Amino acid sequence: MSTPTHRADSPALVPDADWWREATVYQIYPRSFADANGDGIGDLRGIISRVPYLAELGIDAVWLSPFYPSALADGGYDVDDPRDVDPRIGTLAEFDELSARLHEAGIRLIVDIVPNHSSDRHVWFREALAAGRGSAARERYILREGRGEHGELPPSDWESVFGGPAWERVEDGQWYLHTFATEQPDLNWDHPEVREDYHRTLRFWADRGVDGFRVDVAHSLVKDLSEPLPSAAELAAMPQDGTHPLWDRDEVHEVYAGWRSVFEEYTPPRTAVAEAWVASPERRARYASPAGLGQAFNFDLLEADFDAADFRRIITDNLAQSARTGSSSTWVLSNHDVVRHATRYGLPPLAGRREKQGASWLVAGGPEEGIDRELGLRRARAASLLELALPGSAYLYQGEELGLHEVAEIPDAERQDPAFWRTTPEDRGFDGLGRDGTRVPLPWTREGSSYGFGEGPAHLPQPEWFADVSVEAQEEDPSSTLSMYRRALRLRRELEGPEELTWDEELSGGDVLAFERPGGWLCVTNCGEQPVAMPAGEVLLVSTPGLDPAAPVTELPGSSTAWLRH
Ligand code: BGC
Repeated sequence: MSTPTHRADSPALVPDADWWREATVYQIYPRSFADANGDGIGDLRGIISRVPYLAELGIDAVWLSPFYPSALADGGYDVDDPRDVDPRIGTLAEFDELSARLHEAGIRLIVDIVPNHSSDRHVWFREALAAGRGSAARERYILREGRGEHGELPPSDWESVFGGPAWERVEDGQWYLHTFATEQPDLNWDHPEVREDYHRTLRFWADRGVDGFRVDVAHSLVKDLSEPLPSAAELAAMPQDGTHPLWDRDEVHEVYAGWRSVFEEYTPPRTAVAEAWVASPERRARYASPAGLGQAFNFDLLEADFDAADFRRIITDNLAQSARTGSSSTWVLSNHDVVRHATRYGLPPLAGRREKQGASWLVAGGPEEGIDRELGLRRARAASLLELALPGSAYLYQGEELGLHEVAEIPDAERQDPAFWRTTPEDRGFDGLGRDGTRVPLPWTREGSSYGFGEGPAHLPQPEWFADVSVEAQEEDPSSTLSMYRRALRLRRELEGPEELTWDEELSGGDVLAFERPGGWLCVTNCGEQPVAMPAGEVLLVSTPGLDPAAPVTELPGSSTAWLRH
């Protein structure tokens, strides 16, 4: 085994128990970031080769989406072994090297933990199938007899989040529950071995120097599956107030209290952020409690339209909420599950398009028709600057710093997302083609078989327009989205201070949103179409594409954000 890398070993990182409160965290979807061995799949060596890029970008931490051995039935969220690295992605020694390189560059590392389910290739599931009904091995999962005269009907009519039935029949006739894909059997969180094994996994990565964890579908682990099971219609009508049989049950916090004790075994304590699509900021606060995971994603901005009043309400509510709980606010505009925000903001308003009980993500994809790409990018840059001026931590998704649009032109046969394959076009969400369009490997160069992603073709096809939005193309252009993010992240470091924001009531109103941060900082967003006068002060950064950053600006154009100091 290679030597574990601890953060304290790294000269660039000062131990700090509060680092996560104001951090800019960059999500890497490992299979689509950089491919060093030319097999079309991104890998750890590829990420290592791009550490200088990450350092120059100016982020504080990387969140790695799953890199564990997996059949990729759900992009790696079907985990065969949570304490190893997929051989196509690398080795544990390379993981240690990546962690060391990041830490040397002053960047912390967060890994994804997937507790609701394992993959169907996990040793436990194979044992469960081999051991047969009534065996102890089956107790770690959720297996039931079917309904009907010969048990030929599933135990209930529930649908999986990705569409199709939530139960799958095994050879001897029992059925297992899978909230997500068939290859993702749900674990039984009432089983002490399941609980203990996750503690082992957390320690395994924490011992290797990992700074924190992103917890996948944190609100689904604990379930009430007492008979008779409710019908799908009954489930849908039940409030998600802590008593719902499947989602956000109050008892799940006992699990996270146990995780908290594991985090506190380390100095500084390891951190966590919950992915919990729950009914309200109040319900979310339970996951963000200091006695639990400590922080939770707030997807409110991501689910909102580009609207000044909505933004203001969301920001005010979430800051108040985090002040009450002692956590810090989190802001997210894009991730690997949703339509990239540059495209989202170019689509007709989102209102009413929330999909899918339980997961409620916006199924990605969408037709070219009806997308105003220019407006989408303009708004995306404005929203990103607004996000980066807010107190709390910002979670960025790889490629958003390039202003990437969703890739819609993926032939059906090449799509990988189970959400595409398990649903019919009619029930696929608003125009859902699945989430592959947001997971297309990044363009690094203008040319090359996969635009610098690797030597060979990428595992998902890249469109020709990637050439012009590649890192190489944008590095040369001071008004590019990449240049804007780099400047913004550098300036954001100066913003670190108390989690405070004061609305500037004189400037705010109608389509305009303006707030001050300590130290004379002013952030103004114009959500309307018409320009407004630029407030007094030194203009630090303006989001409008094509604007010469060196030229004086007297007006703030429509769909734009400016940062000023006075
Ligand atoms: C992840 C998804 C994944 C699902 C099941 C989510 O919330 O972000 O990508 O498909 O959990 O693991």
